[in-house]
Parts: sequence; structure tokens; C-alpha cells
Amino acid sequence: MAGQSNAMDRELALELVRVTERAAVAAARLRGRGDEKAADQAAVDAMRRELNALDIAGTVVIGEGERDEAPMLYIGETVGTGKGPKVDIALDPLEGTTITAKCMPNALAVIAMAEAGSLLHAPDVYMDKIAIGGNYRKDLVDLDAPAADNINALAEAKGVPVAEITACILDRPRHGALIEAVRATGAAIQLIGDGDVAGVINTTDPDDTGIDIYMGIGGAPEGVLAAAALRCIGGQMQGRLVTSNAEQKERAKKMGIEDFDRKYTMQEMASGDVMFAATGVTDGSMLSGVKTRGNTIYTETVVMRSSTGTTRWIKAKHTHTTKFQ
Ligand code: FBP
Repeated sequence: MAGQSNAMDRELALELVRVTERAAVAAARLRGRGDEKAADQAAVDAMRRELNALDIAGTVVIGEGERDEAPMLYIGETVGTGKGPKVDIALDPLEGTTITAKCMPNALAVIAMAEAGSLLHAPDVYMDKIAIGGNYRKDLVDLDAPAADNINALAEAKGVPVAEITACILDRPRHGALIEAVRATGAAIQLIGDGDVAGVINTTDPDDTGIDIYMGIGGAPEGVLAAAALRCIGGQMQGRLVTSNAEQKERAKKMGIEDFDRKYTMQEMASGDVMFAATGVTDGSMLSGVKTRGNTIYTETVVMRSSTGTTRWIKAKHTHTTKFQ
């Protein structure tokens, strides 16, 4: 974090790996059991335990829900020993609860940390999002432009026919018109059942993931987490909260949102020095899921820091598995 020593910054990045590893292992034990709540709770418990052992004065700004509806890791909860740097924390101990319950691909344990005041305090509502990877001119795509304009601009910038562009969109009835508009351009669509943090991050490595652009409406908390990742790894993203009733607007207001129609840039959702870590729970396009072989547990984690632009993939073999109990 700016103002903190670089060494501390580096240590914290590794600490975040431990945090997401523990949450992922806890959730992985409940893969395929059809119980979303139990899997989520296991990940929450493990993540909270690890966070509270860290020398930080952390405040959860994106968490499991608002204080009155989430018993743990709620928005506003303070975590850590209180001895270290003041940081904002955005977390999703289990991104993809349904995926985990069904043992399907792309569930992650995710966390982002930034200097206090750097992360958008987004309520648990929807967010309209658009994201592409790095190496494109600024504002190449725009949330308010027609889908066809965005797809065409991306194809031109990439120097490929539109038919070689693939958009990632959550498979939801609310995206009917968007899907039709994208297909009309000749571009392909990868429809995902859940997990749009991975969907957004996947745009940063189209050669590997096959995804060039993320479009559509998903969770606002997931939007802030994805923006934090893109800040580190490089990319462009815009988002706008979707508040559909007075109750949601009131919740947004309580979190300091005044302009409900505001279009946020990636930097406005995650500014300052940001760190991001994610561990695979189930196998996915970005990370392998947790594997247990006898008494040994294997995990795969990606950790990124915006201050250095470094992305590390950490494959860990855990032999003292009692620490995961
Ligand atoms: P959960 O882990 O809370 O189940 O979220 C999964 C997810 O697919 C997110 O990745 C996405 O942003 C959101 O749900 C979309 O919400 P909805 O399922 O209501 O369309």
C-alpha cells in the first residue's frame, strides 16, 4: 500500500494467498453436495479466521452482505489484528456457490485489498459491466454504446474479422436482447452459468481463454472485485449499478452512492495500490481447483499487485493439512 514499506506490501500479497487458499480448501470439501449455503459458510469461516490473524487494520467494504443480513464478513466489519496498515477489503469467499454445489467449473475464493478509501462501496445489487483486456486504446468500448459498435471496434483494434471475436455473457433471461445483438454481428458468445469475476478476468488472456470481451449484468460486488483484478493485470472496465426499486436505492444511499446512474471506470471502482488473489475451488479456465490426494492438498492461486503489475500463479502442495481443519 502507498505509504507502507514495499516489503510489507510484498508480504501482504503472500498473506492474501494463504487467505484464499484456506477458503478454497474449506469450500472444496463441499463440492458437489448440493448445499450452496454450507459451502459458502465453510469458505466464510475459513477466510475470516485467516484474515483475523493478519497484521492489518482492515475494513470489509465488499462482503457477504449488509450488517443486518450477514453474521460474518459483513460490510463494515473490521478484520485483522488492528496493528498494521489501514486497508479496505473486498471479498467473496466463494464466488460461485451454485457452481460449487453442483461441482461445475470456475468457482473461486476471491479477495482484493487496497489502501483505505480506495474501493467502491457497492451495495449487493446488480451492476451492468463491460470489460476488455489490456493493450487497447483508452475507451475503445463503452457501456453506453450499442453492442455492435463495441464488438466492431474491438475486432478492428485486434485486426481480426468480427467472426473471430468471442463475448462472455451470463446465461440469464435478462440478457436476451444483448445476446441477440451480439450474435447479429457474427461474433461468438460463451454463455456462462455463473462466475463473472472469472468471466471479466478471462478477457485479459484471450489466447488462452478464448474470451475477448465481457458484457452484461452481474453482481455489483463481483464487479468491484473484477475491477480490482483488472487494475493489477491490465485491462479496461466500466460498470453502472442497477438499482431496480426504492429499497435497493436506499441501501445504495446508505453506502454513500448519490448518483444511481453514474458510470464508473475501473479506476473509480478500484483506485490506489490494489492487490488481488483468487484460488480455484473447482477446475476453471484460469485456475485448477483444489485436489486432495491422501493427506496432501494441492491448490492453485493467482495473486496480483497493481504497484508492480506482477501476476504470479502459485501452485501449492500442503502436506500439514491439519492447518486446514
Ligand atoms: P454467487 O457465488 O453469490 O452464487 O454468485 C455467482 C454469480 O454468478 C456471480 O458471478 C454473478 O455476478 C452473479 O452471481 C449474478 O447474479 P444472478 O445469479 O442473480 O444473475
